Amino acid sequence: MKNSALAALAAFLVSTPVVIAVPVYGQCGGIGYTGSTVCDAGSTCTYSNDWYSQCLPGSSNPTTTPRPTSTTSTSTRPTSGTTTTTSTGPISTDNPYVGYDVYLSPYYAAEVAAAVKNIKDATIAAKAASVAKIPTFTWYDIAAKVPDLGVDLANAKSIQTSTGKKQLVQIVVYDLPDRDCHAKASNGEYSIANGGEAKYRAYIDAIAAQISKYPDIRIVAVVEPDSLANLVTNLSDPKCANAANVYKSSTIYAIQKLNQSNVYLYLDAGHGGWLGWDANLAPAAQLFGQLLKTAGGTYRVRGLATNVSNYNALRTNTPDPITQGNKCYSEELYANALGPLLTQNGFPAHFIIDQGRSGVQNIRKEWGNWCNILGAGFGIRPTTNTGNSLIDAIVWIKPGGESDGTSDTSSPRYDSTCGLSDSTRPAPEAGTWFQAYFETLVTKANPAL
Ligand code: GLC
Repeated sequence: MKNSALAALAAFLVSTPVVIAVPVYGQCGGIGYTGSTVCDAGSTCTYSNDWYSQCLPGSSNPTTTPRPTSTTSTSTRPTSGTTTTTSTGPISTDNPYVGYDVYLSPYYAAEVAAAVKNIKDATIAAKAASVAKIPTFTWYDIAAKVPDLGVDLANAKSIQTSTGKKQLVQIVVYDLPDRDCHAKASNGEYSIANGGEAKYRAYIDAIAAQISKYPDIRIVAVVEPDSLANLVTNLSDPKCANAANVYKSSTIYAIQKLNQSNVYLYLDAGHGGWLGWDANLAPAAQLFGQLLKTAGGTYRVRGLATNVSNYNALRTNTPDPITQGNKCYSEELYANALGPLLTQNGFPAHFIIDQGRSGVQNIRKEWGNWCNILGAGFGIRPTTNTGNSLIDAIVWIKPGGESDGTSDTSSPRYDSTCGLSDSTRPAPEAGTWFQAYFETLVTKANPAL
């Protein structure tokens, strides 16, 4: 090439930097991030927290600009008055899942579809693709995602109208200020020190506003994984002690605000290896009961969700050795132990249990380990055929394939649990797609896919 041509090329390269677009669900911003901030066509860089922005499907709109100012989420919330709640009286005694079709999460389906494209083996790819048809909860882990709930509810309504089959939409409410107080991996967008309580209320108001537009679509909502369980066992951690009152008042706010007759709430109750220990069962039941007393009623609380994002068996004849000393060595035993104590404390004793990643047992070195555990497989399929009247349904709450936390020690959200030898490494940030982990869940699924 001649010098003049080289000079022209050099000038072109300087004036036109080559921009590598980030694939959908990839990281596109955050403190310390040095990569591209441009997302693949059809996705938009969306602020998640100060350390993390992510390319999410959909075109740009005012709620999904990267790194919004702290007022963005409140400025987009619906005016108050649209969230008026209907007075509903005590919750129906019915299992909400009976007689309803569970709506499939398009968010998860898109993640799975993108993942399938990266699987070369046709047999594994076909199995992987089938996961999109298994009902999985959609997590509202940042306020910017809440408008998507309106889209899902509208879709569910049109399916209901065209098929005549009643639809149930499954969501996780997950945006407490100072979230994940005893770990780091899932630190959220709001902090108590920075007006997080008011922002959380705006987030709940926005969810309630969407739900109230679709009174004939049923909603099952899991409320704030890990939060109240942390208040049972981890108040010696200053971050949890500091958050305790805000966790309680915020949860009560959510319960009171989501008081619409189409809603069924399950508060998160950790798992058998956490609150199932003898010393923790009674304090846990008291905390749940006290919360409803303070709230002034049961509202739409149907019961508790357990094993969210965890790996415990529903029932087993061969307890994992790590469970030794705890009579609640399965989630069914945990529900059986907690149920009567809940009743004594005026709390409804009904459960849904996450089995999404519980297909393979005896894979952890310690019961407290939770981060992208090596060798996990998809588990029992969602069903109301639970064999136990306390258990409304087996569900898949954690979207299998989304990471539990990063193994990058330099990340502000690095939690040392994610660096343990029974965790899969390297692992990306919590909530983002973890292709290798998804593929293991597929190949080790039990029952097989
Ligand atoms: C983790 C992440 C959160 C994600 C959830 C489900 O808790 O912090 O962002 O939505 O997992 O994958």
